[in-house]
Amino acid sequence: MIRKILRWSGIVLGIIAVLLLIAYGVIYGITAQRINKTYEVAVRSIDIPADSATISHGAHLFAIKGCGDCHGANLAGKVFLDDPMIGRLVGANLTSGEGGVPDWFSDKDWLRAMRHGIDHEGKSLLLMPSYEYARLDDKDMAALIAFCKAQPPVNSALPPAHIGPMGRILTAFDQMPLLPAEKVDHGYQQPAQVVKEVTAEYGKYLAMSCTGCHYPDLKGGKSPIPGQPPVANITASGHIGKWSVEEFVNTLRTGTTPEGKQLKNEEMPWKMTAAYTTDELKALYLYLKSI
Ligand code: HEC
Ligand code: HEC
Repeated sequence: MIRKILRWSGIVLGIIAVLLLIAYGVIYGITAQRINKTYEVAVRSIDIPADSATISHGAHLFAIKGCGDCHGANLAGKVFLDDPMIGRLVGANLTSGEGGVPDWFSDKDWLRAMRHGIDHEGKSLLLMPSYEYARLDDKDMAALIAFCKAQPPVNSALPPAHIGPMGRILTAFDQMPLLPAEKVDHGYQQPAQVVKEVTAEYGKYLAMSCTGCHYPDLKGGKSPIPGQPPVANITASGHIGKWSVEEFVNTLRTGTTPEGKQLKNEEMPWKMTAAYTTDELKALYLYLKSI
């Protein structure tokens, strides 16, 4: 009897193992197809001036968009996630040093990466949040690129990126934003310049940088980063609905909320929001309170 049970449970376990292998094989195939898909997009050229006012505006944008979190403050790139199950994710070296962007990297290549999330071979970049930058107006985009191009070369050869089995499973079920090219509206026509005043409209433009984590409706939910705590609701129906503009500005500058919660910079990047100007934070507040 016992031998019979053991034999049957062995067969059942064997069948389950085979089914799991087949399921992973399917997931592997589907994600490989998505990762290797090539996109044909028309990259619109824009003027990229190199004057000091443009470059210092670009430096401000680089800070408030959190580029340094993945590319390093000196733009030399870094491994920002290395997990045997999820994978190794590597922010590129954006300088012209060794391991950085090649000599032939043109303004079109910058624009294709920033506005479409696509590399020079036509494939999606991996985990570069281009969908948060794709709608930046021409003036801001030109300033960001001008700033990056003006930085001194840093030699930094980084290990190649690698997607682990859990990374593939999460990607297959759209639980990880691995492929920005899938999320960008490639036909979007960016304005030359939006009006930068303390208005809810300008706040909406700035809040594009919050949508990657707080979701497009800004109501938060499950974290897009595997293993991280849930993301807060930052609309009027969340805590922000009860905060004054001073409390809001103070929270995003110090990381401490009026309820006394200390936000962790690794989860909610308040060191990035601390770099916003007061007018930018006020505009964000007006917009978030309006939704
Ligand atoms: C969440 C992390 C993250 C943030 C934030 C981020 N990047 Fe990236 N970026 C990446 C990764 C990862 C890559 C490499 C993608 C690849 O190799 O497929 C990349 C690639 C790039 C590339 C393409 C480089 C090349 O050699 O093809 C450019 C340009 C770039 N990023 C600029 C920026 C700028 C400017 C910002 C801020 C506005 C920014 N990135 C913010 C993760 C990030
Ligand atoms: C990298 C992901 C990420 C980005 C980008 C991000 N947030 Fe957050 N934010 C979080 C997480 C996670 C929490 C919840 C932290 C906690 O509960 O400890 C949070 C919490 C907050 C809170 C506190 C809410 C409360 O009820 O206490 C505010 C305010 C906030 N975010 C505003 C913003 C704004 C404004 C932006 C865009 C400029 C932004 N966040 C961008 C991840 C992010």
